[in-house]
Amino acid sequence: MAMEATLILIKPDGLKKSLTGNILTRLSETKLEIVAAKMVRVSHALAAVHYQHLKEKPFFEDVLQYLMGEYHDRRKVMALVYYGEGAAVKCRALAGATNPEEADPVSIRGSYGRITTRGVYENCIHVSANVADADREIKLWFQPDEIIVDLYPTQIVVETVEKRSWT
Ligand code: PPS
Repeated sequence: MAMEATLILIKPDGLKKSLTGNILTRLSETKLEIVAAKMVRVSHALAAVHYQHLKEKPFFEDVLQYLMGEYHDRRKVMALVYYGEGAAVKCRALAGATNPEEADPVSIRGSYGRITTRGVYENCIHVSANVADADREIKLWFQPDEIIVDLYPTQIVVETVEKRSWT
């Protein structure tokens, strides 16, 4: 199997239900390496680009609000990059089907997910669907220096930006 990277998001319901440890323990069964991790406050713009392929779906705005944490009083997600042989397929298998009702009951989504009365899936984690999606999503959520291995080609950009520093 080829060396791959994949994006995992522990969504606001996973955080609110205190499932972070359980989910990371389940994912450790893959023996993959975590090469990036951070907490992210998700903007509407970031959520909209992440789910851009769903723009025409009736639940589009709901999935954005869900990822932003508006439904769980937890305005953050945990973003991670898992790296290793067959990472995309291995993580998808542990996550289970997107629809929590169809997911294997022992999978992460089967164990912890639900469908709301509005018909929106709250499946605790996002996992890139395939390697092409993973490439796009990892570049969207992480800057090169936030990942401890060189996954993709980079370039040096010189720019003057204002940023906070420790006083
Ligand atoms: S597609 O085109 O519908 O197959 O898209 P997919 O890549 O599977 O992603 C769908 C994401 O939207 C979330 N979501 C729902 N999908 C389908 N039906 C309903 N009702 C729905 N509600 C939410 C679904 O969880 C997918 O997001 P992720 O983050 O991948 O779980």
